[in-house]
Amino acid sequence: MGNAENRRWLRRAGQARLEYGADYNPEQWPREVWPEDVRAMRAAGVTIVSVGIFSWARLQPGPDRWDFAWLDEVMDLLHGGGILADLATATASPPPWLTTAYPEILLIDQRGNTVWPGGRQHWRPTSPIFREHALRLVRELALRYAGHPALAAWHVGNELGAHNGHDFSDDAAAAFRHWLRHRYGTLTALNEAWGTDFWSQRYTDWAQIIPPRQAAAQINPTCLLDFQRFSDYALREYYRAERAVLRKFTPDVPVTTNFMVMPGVRRMDYAAWAGEVDFVANDHYVVPGPQARDELSFSANLTGHLAGGQPWFLMEHSTSAVNWQPVNPAKKPGELARDSLTHVAHGADAVCFFQWRQSRAGAEKYHSAMLPHAGEQSAVFRAVAELGARLAALSSVAGSARVPADVAILFDWESWWVAEQDSHPTDRLRYHQEALDWYTALLDLGIRADVVPVGDPLRHRMVIAPILHMVPGSLADRLGAYVAEGGHLVTTYFSGIVDQNDHIWPGGYPGALRDLLGIRIEEFGPLLDGETVELSNGTVGTLWTDHLDVTDPATEVLAEYRSGDQAGRAAITRRAIGSGSAAYVSTRLGPRGLSVLLPDLLERAAVSSELAPELRGRVELAIRSGHRFLINRTDEPVDLGVDGLLPPRGVQIIPR
Ligand code: GLA
Ligand code: GLA
Repeated sequence: MGNAENRRWLRRAGQARLEYGADYNPEQWPREVWPEDVRAMRAAGVTIVSVGIFSWARLQPGPDRWDFAWLDEVMDLLHGGGILADLATATASPPPWLTTAYPEILLIDQRGNTVWPGGRQHWRPTSPIFREHALRLVRELALRYAGHPALAAWHVGNELGAHNGHDFSDDAAAAFRHWLRHRYGTLTALNEAWGTDFWSQRYTDWAQIIPPRQAAAQINPTCLLDFQRFSDYALREYYRAERAVLRKFTPDVPVTTNFMVMPGVRRMDYAAWAGEVDFVANDHYVVPGPQARDELSFSANLTGHLAGGQPWFLMEHSTSAVNWQPVNPAKKPGELARDSLTHVAHGADAVCFFQWRQSRAGAEKYHSAMLPHAGEQSAVFRAVAELGARLAALSSVAGSARVPADVAILFDWESWWVAEQDSHPTDRLRYHQEALDWYTALLDLGIRADVVPVGDPLRHRMVIAPILHMVPGSLADRLGAYVAEGGHLVTTYFSGIVDQNDHIWPGGYPGALRDLLGIRIEEFGPLLDGETVELSNGTVGTLWTDHLDVTDPATEVLAEYRSGDQAGRAAITRRAIGSGSAAYVSTRLGPRGLSVLLPDLLERAAVSSELAPELRGRVELAIRSGHRFLINRTDEPVDLGVDGLLPPRGVQIIPR
């Protein structure tokens, strides 16, 4: 949930515009290349670059040796070319001299092994020694570049938690205990919250508590949850320490760090981070698959709501292939622009890539860039320059607010963490995938939806809460009030099961939502791999079923099971409450099945498509005030009638 009132955008003069650029790593290239870079950046329409992210070893070659001359030159060259700098604090990767002198700053893994240098981000967020050295570097940079005319923003570290999200060192143990004392106050409260009477785990001294290191049997789940919460907090606390130095010396320069709202990254609760940054910045990479494009839209959508509806900064994505997947396909023609403009459609006012010039050496030499190995005479560079020109022509979009949809999908990091813990009814459940399936189904029906953090006010006509596993009493109350006021809640299997300590709500599932939904579940019925169940509405369920009874006369059965152990029982229910309703889906239907179920639920909530019937499913609609974005979801051209022809993977932006 963004602190919209605290938002600050880049420090810069002139008319509002959409920014365009990349990570820029000039230290990988001889000096003669730098003026060439600036010339080509101008040709591509670049307005801003992130500099110095991995420059610590160059900037501080030894404990008391500093070398800023090269960065001075780069900053001056950029300014001369009219290009802004999102200047990194350069703390992302500590240099070898530091880790050799102080091996106690290195991460320790769950088995107690040292995570050695050789890659990057091998530091402990809780190490006082690391912090001392890092903050010294931040201070030097802030003092040196405070008044530099190119300095538009500060970029703290890089993707905090990407590699150092969990650390099991003694520093982490001490900080974990400190955090737990603050959270619980007394050991009695901690013992209660962690349920330590189970398996003889009762603590009698804070010093007995350790991070969830490799153990003989399943680890206490509340300890795991709290360690996850703590680890996220520790990174945020580290971020705040850098920010404090930057605020002291450059109070007028906004501070941010790049989030990773993208597939496969779940360790950071970005709803908690959003209030800490002056503007939200995100990195996003596409993972190939049938829902890849929809996932990009989903992540962009969520990022925009983390930003509280304010403009946000796409800090990184790729012009073409990445290098870190098992197979790394190049992007198809049109994809580069479509991906970028989808982020803009969901509120991004800056579109940046990793990275400007493709590396010759290092682990990322096969990762695409704005200026590829092939040089300026390449399809990628032409597409890059075309997009630069297009963004420049879209300056009227800059600063415009997103127009809310009628439907929201709730996203909750803590439910994600907890629902996928081990020792559960199934280890096949995937929180993010279920949420994405609902999004795809809505897109298939031509319905716009907002993806919002669970803490946001519930004000959409329909609120979908997929696998909302953890429902503390306060959230149950909010959901109840939402429905009582006429809202239409839809939730799924394994929702409402536990409280904030991961303790079961007793009396039949889904304890926290049982009365609201007007149902009671005695036992879960997870399905084996390949096992399917037929429903009376013609859909097919996988993964999960429930042994479900309807308990309220106002609960209607929308579909029942036709096969499997639950045959004859309710599978999908809807309880009417005044003008509102609470619906429950007890199995995994996937995008196809959900798009069979949704039309009825949408109609009863008075939600309809804003797209012409022939465009629904083929086109995604996103709206910022003054502009409608029509995004081709397919690899075929789409006829927009009076608005022209949308090429395969094309985006049309229409003033409204
Ligand atoms: C991340 C990092 C970048 C780079 C890219 C490659 O986003 O922040 O430094 O490694 O991944 O995709
Ligand atoms: C073993 C253990 C029990 C319990 C069960 C669960 O039998 O002895 O304590 O963990 O497994 O199946």
